[in-house]
Amino acid sequence: MPGADARVIGIASARNDSWGYRGCMTDATDLIELEHQRGANNYHPLPVVVDHAEGAWVTDVAGRRYLDFLSAYSALNFGHRHPRLVAAAHAQLDKVTLTSRAIHSALLGPFCEELADLLDQDRVLPMNSGAEAVETAIKTARAWGYRVKGVPPDQAVIVVAHNNFHGRTTTIVSFSDDPDARGDFGPFTPGFVSVDHGDVAALQAALADPNVVAFLVEPVQGEAGIIVPPPGYLAAAAHMCREADVLFVADEIQSGLARTGTTLAVDHAGVRPDMVLLGKALGGGIVPISVVASRADVLGVLQPGQHGSTFGGNPLALAVAREVIALLRTGEFQERSTRLGQHMLTRLNAESPSIVREVRGLGLWAGVEVVPEAAPVRPAALRALAEGVIVKDTHATTLRLAPPLMIEQADLDHGIDVVLSALAASAP
Ligand SMILES: Cc1ncc(COP(=O)(O)O)c(C=O)c1O
Repeated sequence: MPGADARVIGIASARNDSWGYRGCMTDATDLIELEHQRGANNYHPLPVVVDHAEGAWVTDVAGRRYLDFLSAYSALNFGHRHPRLVAAAHAQLDKVTLTSRAIHSALLGPFCEELADLLDQDRVLPMNSGAEAVETAIKTARAWGYRVKGVPPDQAVIVVAHNNFHGRTTTIVSFSDDPDARGDFGPFTPGFVSVDHGDVAALQAALADPNVVAFLVEPVQGEAGIIVPPPGYLAAAAHMCREADVLFVADEIQSGLARTGTTLAVDHAGVRPDMVLLGKALGGGIVPISVVASRADVLGVLQPGQHGSTFGGNPLALAVAREVIALLRTGEFQERSTRLGQHMLTRLNAESPSIVREVRGLGLWAGVEVVPEAAPVRPAALRALAEGVIVKDTHATTLRLAPPLMIEQADLDHGIDVVLSALAASAP
């Protein structure tokens, strides 16, 4: 990997000469090499080493600025270090940061109430990472199946969608289709059935099994390349789940919190899920926090001692998340996402070079898929990086664009210009 990265740094260095800070690039190279030697592989990062960031811009260790068109996979919907979120974190640092759930904190009740109200749900259970929220939902749905629906012991089935991405734990990768996610990590957890995302008939057939307790779905599949299901699908799915006494569980960890132009992506379909999973942007890009928000009779199945996490619901994360909720209540970010997203999608559709086969998106979130002959699309991401825009490939054929929702339109246009010319230069 460092070899490939070095070639890319070569691209950057060639430009950097004229910018006059080539010496500092050595620091970046050394830092990347140190990470490679002493860390462990999981992601395949772009070769930029960030020193500090503000709003939609990050600055690397050499002082070069980059426009952030990735937003930490939508964890930075409000931009880097939003002043209100930073202030909330500072204030809480001076009070209390961790209690564990062994005792109470003054923030947990208000946080649960405010988030439940925002989502039109009854109860909230905070955890830390997105994967933990998914695991919590799986455990809750199974317990609900046995204790409420009357499914025989150990027979619960959860229906999921092909090409899903819900995280990296052993149970979650058990129902992934991605060979990289699963390879050599078995044995896998049973109890999952996959159907095509967007296929009403396939879901209907899967729900015929009386042991199905939940349908777990990303309303818009993020890692799969911003796959928006056909109109009517989510409403039909929610309806079929209700008829079959099956919980409709919306994983909004990447799609939620204004990314698609509404607070939740399911809001576009007028659907109220039985469980909503949030993470990423709920922590304002400052702290990890995730939640399961659900109906009282569903989350109510968990009894004391049956689930937990030492840091889940810690006061520092709750303080930031309460400010995130306050930002979302203004509607400003949903409005910006809608308006700027329409602008971005219009431009991408009108101006994409011929190697682009499809532009998909909702709100300020787009997947630009190239024809197979132009894959892999990573070189286009590296060209954009050399021109000062951070954008990432997902799978081999799609560039994912997810700028922070507070981005100025001029910056958005600049980033789109760079991405389009990087794609044009990648024609085979
Ligand atoms: C839809 C969805 N669910 C779950 C996760 C896992 O979140 P985390 O990386 O915080 O565990 C992700 C991460 O990208 C995601 O996109």
